Parts: sequence; structure tokens; C-alpha cells
Amino acid sequence: MNVEIIPIDRRHVAGFREVLDGVARERRYLALLEAPTPARIRSFVYNNLRNRAPHFVAVDGGRVVGWCDVRPKTHVTLRHSGVLGMGVAASHRGHGVGSALLRATVDQAFAQGLTRVELVVREDNEAAIALYRRHGFELEGRLRCYLIVDGTTHDALQMARIDMGQSPVSTKLRLERPKSRSK
Ligand SMILES: CC(C)(COP(=O)(O)OP(=O)(O)OC[C@H]1O[C@@H](n2cnc3c(N)ncnc32)[C@H](O)[C@@H]1OP(=O)(O)O)[C@@H](O)C(=O)NCCC(=O)NCCS
Repeated sequence: MNVEIIPIDRRHVAGFREVLDGVARERRYLALLEAPTPARIRSFVYNNLRNRAPHFVAVDGGRVVGWCDVRPKTHVTLRHSGVLGMGVAASHRGHGVGSALLRATVDQAFAQGLTRVELVVREDNEAAIALYRRHGFELEGRLRCYLIVDGTTHDALQMARIDMGQSPVSTKLRLERPKSRSK
């Protein structure tokens, strides 16, 4: 196995859709149960490229076998945050591909100035939870009855990694005395 971890490019669009579709169809890991249409995937990837959003793929002999992306939020108050998604083809799990993808993507997200990367993971996805913990993600809460798959309800976990880096942190507290009210 000779897997490269590289930033996604237009030539990876079809392969990215294929690996996403395979993982979604396992029905155990993602909110999606199949990949979006080719047009939607193309627009997602082109949008990421335009915005320089962190999005890496793992490529083995020309075949895309994994991906990891962080979608930055758009509201002005949330622009320091991004939402992470990832997956590795079943054939390539357990060889360090997920770890390498996650490292590359999160490093780029923080290098670009994001200070919070968050994700939601199904609570029975032990491999993913172990991977996220190992990479500094912390549990923030349980999302109850978050997914229903084939009639079964699953909780999910909200996890995040914070990295303030060199970004200015607002520490100025306004501790003015409240004006005394005249009665
Ligand atoms: C989660 C996932 C991306 C991990 O990718 P991977 O290439 O198998 O991961 P790695 O080989 O880099 O393993 C990373 C760590 O995960 C841990 N891990 C892997 N499988 C595990 C399992 N079944 N149980 C517990 N930990 C596990 C290993 O301990 C490993 O750490 P180590 O190298 O110190 O042993 C992969 O399992 C996957 O694609 N799953 C389906 C899609 C998915 O769950 N996406 C995330 C949705 S939130």
C-alpha cells in the first residue's frame, strides 16, 4: 500500500464521490446514506478550492481511498470555526491513513487562522472517537436521538479541538460598576 495524502484537486472529484458513496452506503458512520449527486459534489469541491478550505484526499495508485475536509462557517460570529468530515475506504482502514488525513487537514485549518474545529460522531463509532481523541479533540456533549438509521435511533457526540495559536483572545472584561438607580 502506497498512499499519498494530498490537497484535493479538480481531478479527484469523481474519486472523492466514489469513496464517500462507499462509506455512506455502509450505513454505520455518516449522516448521508449515499453520496450527493455528481453536480453537488463538484460544486462542493470547487467551492472548497475557491475558498481554500482544508480538504485532503488519500490516493493509492490513482484511486481516492479517503478524504478529510473542514468547512469553515460563514456567519461573522462563527468564522473562527469549521466543521470536520472524513472517511477512509473499508479496504484501507487500520493503516494510518485516517490519522495522516486528519493531521494534514487540521494543521491546515489552524494554520489558516481557524481556532475551533468541531465534528459530530455517532456514539458507537469507536474507531473514529479514538482517532479524534488521539488528535486532541475533546468531548463537548451528547446529542440525543441524533440519527435514525433503518428505524434505529442513535445518539451522537459533539467533539471539538481548540487551538488559539497566535490569534488575539478577547480577555478585556468590562467591570464597570452598575450605575445606581435613583428610586
Ligand atoms: C475513523 C476512520 C476514518 C479511521 O481511519 P483509519 O485509516 O482506519 O485510521 P488509522 O489507521 O489512522 O487509525 C487511527 C487510530 O484509530 C484507532 N482505531 C482504528 N480502528 C479502531 C477500532 N476499531 N477501535 C478503536 N480504535 C480504532 C487506532 O487505535 C489507531 O490508532 P493507532 O494507530 O495508535 O493504533 C475510519 O475507520 C473510517 O473511515 N471509518 C468510517 C467513516 C467514519 O467513521 N468517518 C468519521 C465519521 S465522524
